[in-house]
Amino acid sequence: MFSYTRISAITSVALLLASFTNAQFGPSQCARNYTVKPGDVCDAISAAQHSSTFQLANANKGVIDANCTNLQVGEIICLGLLGKDCTDTTVVGGSNCEAITTNAGIPLSTLLHNNPNVLDGCTNIYPEEVLCTSGALFDYTV
Ligand SMILES: *[C@@H]1O[C@H](CO)[C@@H](O)[C@H](O)[C@H]1NC(C)=O
Ligand SMILES: *[C@@H]1O[C@H](CO)[C@@H](O)[C@H](O)[C@H]1NC(C)=O
Repeated sequence: MFSYTRISAITSVALLLASFTNAQFGPSQCARNYTVKPGDVCDAISAAQHSSTFQLANANKGVIDANCTNLQVGEIICLGLLGKDCTDTTVVGGSNCEAITTNAGIPLSTLLHNNPNVLDGCTNIYPEEVLCTSGALFDYTV
């Protein structure tokens, strides 16, 4: 799950430097930045900043771990990469993919394309998850 875990309050310069070193994408590839605040968790950042759960993880590969347990207060993270920054998002809540696609006016294939973490049958979405609901297609594979 990409949620629920509270970040530690102490910022470690060493950890920050280590995370920048391991980052797959550099600052010049980032369309939008965000500075981590006390109490932030990834899915809450995703919801407030309109960056899907997948997009936030993808834009911070090598920086944020798989379960989002290593956010550091004051750390600058990337909300979306240049050319693949979906800002049309929705929080799953009690909804399902059929309702989400109907509301967004997009086919299921578009939802699945833009949210590669969602399984074909849409069986693995969860309430705090943030999905890209854009009608445009974003290529997260490159
Ligand atoms: C994001 O932050 C980095 C590091 O401070 C900076 O180099 C970059 O220009 C910023 N990008 C945007 C889009 O603000
Ligand atoms: C992430 O959390 C899940 C569920 O708690 C756990 O099974 C999994 O091992 C964790 N993954 C990592 C990389 O820590």
